Amino acid sequence: MYNSNPTLDQKDKTILHDRQGEVMTTDKGAAVPFDKSFYIESYGCQMNFSDSEIVASILGQSGYGPTRNMEVADLILINTCSIREKAEDTVRRRLTEFNKVKKQKPGTLIGVLGCMAERLKDKLLDQEKLVDLVVGPDAYRDLPNLLKSATDGERGLNVLLSREETYADISPMRLDNNGVTAFISIMRGCDNMCSFCVVPFTRGRERSRNAFTIVSEATDLYTQGYREVTLLGQNVDSYKWENPETKEVVSFAKLLVLVAEVHPNLRVRFSTSHPKDITDEVLYAIRDYENICNYIHLPIQSGNSRILKLMNRTYDRDWYMDKVSRIYEIIPDCAVTSDIITGFCSETEEEHVDTLTMIKWAKYSMSYMFFYSERPGTLAARKYPDDIPLEVKKRRLAEVIEVQKEISTEHNQKDIGNTYKVLIEGTSKRSDDDYKGRNTHNKMVIFPVVDSYKQGDYVYVKIDRSNSATLFGTIVAHEESIPTSKS
Ligand code: 5AD
Ligand code: SF4
Repeated sequence: MYNSNPTLDQKDKTILHDRQGEVMTTDKGAAVPFDKSFYIESYGCQMNFSDSEIVASILGQSGYGPTRNMEVADLILINTCSIREKAEDTVRRRLTEFNKVKKQKPGTLIGVLGCMAERLKDKLLDQEKLVDLVVGPDAYRDLPNLLKSATDGERGLNVLLSREETYADISPMRLDNNGVTAFISIMRGCDNMCSFCVVPFTRGRERSRNAFTIVSEATDLYTQGYREVTLLGQNVDSYKWENPETKEVVSFAKLLVLVAEVHPNLRVRFSTSHPKDITDEVLYAIRDYENICNYIHLPIQSGNSRILKLMNRTYDRDWYMDKVSRIYEIIPDCAVTSDIITGFCSETEEEHVDTLTMIKWAKYSMSYMFFYSERPGTLAARKYPDDIPLEVKKRRLAEVIEVQKEISTEHNQKDIGNTYKVLIEGTSKRSDDDYKGRNTHNKMVIFPVVDSYKQGDYVYVKIDRSNSATLFGTIVAHEESIPTSKS
């Protein structure tokens, strides 16, 4: 994954946590001691990181506690991503490493979770013999049974996709967290069928989670000291949940407001938005609620209408531009970010240039940028030849990265002199003398520690310098010059 803002890059991030010996309380109030341990690594999208926390919770109920040390673990899990070939290659390399550990400690179980489990099914288990367990994204409740089967030397495989599963009632065990920011999964699957994308095949049909459980998870998090939640889904704007008793339908805009009303000090973010589904009501909610961040991740994928049609994105360049204009009209102070794919099937140089001009026009503060990677089984793999040579895809990607870097640098330069409300997430990676946190635009801000403020506090930071990825500043006493579109 190429990302103009490395601070947001989830690539290769692993979730590791050490809580062996701790006691966890079940939903029914009974205490379950951890007598076994699991080690988990997560790859890919935020949804996978969120799913790993559901898995951790399910395993906790069966007496498995998390460990950071794979050498002592009874169970080694990898939550996988299939979105690009490179992601799958990384997972295979890790599985080889895990098998070396298993050789030293026979009896250790190795399991593959997530999208690769769904895509490759029994192949990893039977042909490649790399793992003991293969569990798809909708089958995590079955993990305790599958573990029993695998321990008894039977096949531990469940890759059934569901039309209903949302894990609504499962309270995620927060892994490797800062105690300040958390993800809340609000829906699963995707019905969009973008032609390049494997997600509809690996994560199944779209379904929305019960709104009450989302609001209560946000409320619990606030009570525990969390100050920011990110509502997650492959396409959050198509969230739609009907209350079975009242028949009232909760739209995404309504859900945003419900979560924002949990507490004014609980910041709300969301990802990902599909341009075709984001509504004015969502934009008004952002405008009207100070705690809903002025930040929209609105992937364009390509700036050219013919390519967008081949991608089955259901909008064209002009339509997308109208949507971005509408965002800036309703929320003038909004940061918009994007996902971009270069070298999609049959893309010409002129069509590629349309993507470069779009980055400049839309003024993305940041983008996630990739070259096209054909995924077996997708619409594109079946219909269009993957005919752009790798070096051309990579050269176009380098050009896209270059333009985005310029635009991000400009975007961040404009922030110099402004004061932003920043939520302190912890000390910076580079120095314990600096705090890090994000502003409403989801930009990382670094500023010297002031002892009277701690992790989880909001502070006002005046920006005095910036680069393409980060803002730097100092804490000031109050809201001096926050550019605001909110009343
Ligand atoms: N090749 C390259 N990038 C892809 N993405 C999805 N599928 C592919 C693929 N086959 C990118 C899209 C999507 C992001 C999560 O990953 O830009 O928005
Ligand atoms: Fe994939 Fe498109 Fe669904 Fe995103 S909206 S997960 S790119 S099919």
